[in-house]
Amino acid sequence: HLPKEVTIIEVGPRDGLQNEKVFIPTDVKKNFINSLKEAGLKEMELTSFVSPKWVPQMGDAAEIVADCLDEHTRNIVLAPNRKGIERVESTDCKAVAIFVGVSDGFNKKNINKTTEESMIELIPIIGELKNKGYFVRACISTAFYCPYEGKVSEEDTIQLCEQFVNAGVDELSVADTIGMASPTESFSLFSKLKKAFPNILLTAHFHDTRNMALTNIFAALQAGVDRFDTSAGGLGGCPFAPGAAGNAATEEVVYMLHRMGIDTGVDLDKLVKAIEVVRPHLSRTIDSAYYRLNRET
Ligand code: HMG
Ligand code: MG
Repeated sequence: HLPKEVTIIEVGPRDGLQNEKVFIPTDVKKNFINSLKEAGLKEMELTSFVSPKWVPQMGDAAEIVADCLDEHTRNIVLAPNRKGIERVESTDCKAVAIFVGVSDGFNKKNINKTTEESMIELIPIIGELKNKGYFVRACISTAFYCPYEGKVSEEDTIQLCEQFVNAGVDELSVADTIGMASPTESFSLFSKLKKAFPNILLTAHFHDTRNMALTNIFAALQAGVDRFDTSAGGLGGCPFAPGAAGNAATEEVVYMLHRMGIDTGVDLDKLVKAIEVVRPHLSRTIDSAYYRLNRET
């Protein structure tokens, strides 16, 4: 039984660009964001309020947010800790994504804390944000495999998700950070998460390191998931997860869903135009087949 509609959460401006080594001018990023909105994307990660020493590409987060908020989009920003939350609170942005890895090995490399230390800091923050009316999304990294520790158990992932649900988050975005999940594993974990947390917004976030993102999305759809994080052009990857290639490409996912008769509200022609905005500034090529077949230049 497949859904009639799917929500795409566009993560290109954040996950897509954070791994780019050469600084992309802030105006180009703003233009990219606005073009993606014109293509019909209604939920989007705009940027992240992380340490600019750790991720220089996201150093212009405040400038991005100052210019890119609007009432028609859920504009989300990432924050790793209390300092990041304070920076968010000094803007008009009302949707925050916090992020934690299930495995200590990855969490240490990514935010310099064990998973438990992160949770001790984040649980009270979630309560405070909810009291202030924020939309809170929890991104769960290394939900299947960790680049440092290998296979992660379903039990550990579900248990961490449960802590976030109990703390009051609105959404769980569960990630295959290094693109190692198989469709069988995706179906199994997302079926269990759907059953355990029927009232939460449940989103799947697949990286395409091994060309399995689309297949994993198809598996997650069958497990009842109707929300997917994707990145225009298939850009993306976490600087602290070796081997994390790009995200599932928005255009490939949207194309597949439309061919299956599932609505997304995304205009593919305009999406290709949005990719053209950022492409000349990238240090990598865009490999998605849909883009290759439909690009203008
Ligand atoms: P740390 O060095 O342990 O931080 O980094 P600290 O608390 O010791 O502070 C050191 C300095 O950084 C201090 O400044 C702080 O004020 C400053 P100083 O006194 O030296 O001048 N600082 C900050 N500045 C700006 N914004 C902040 C902030 N926090 C501290 N928020 C920290 C810890 C968490 C900051 C660092 O590890 C960090 O920024 N990590 C972020 C890494 C990141 O962005 N990763 C990518 C996003 S996650 C991802 O991609 C996965 C996902 O897509 C899902 C998936 O695919 O798995 C979501
Ligand atoms: Mg990611």
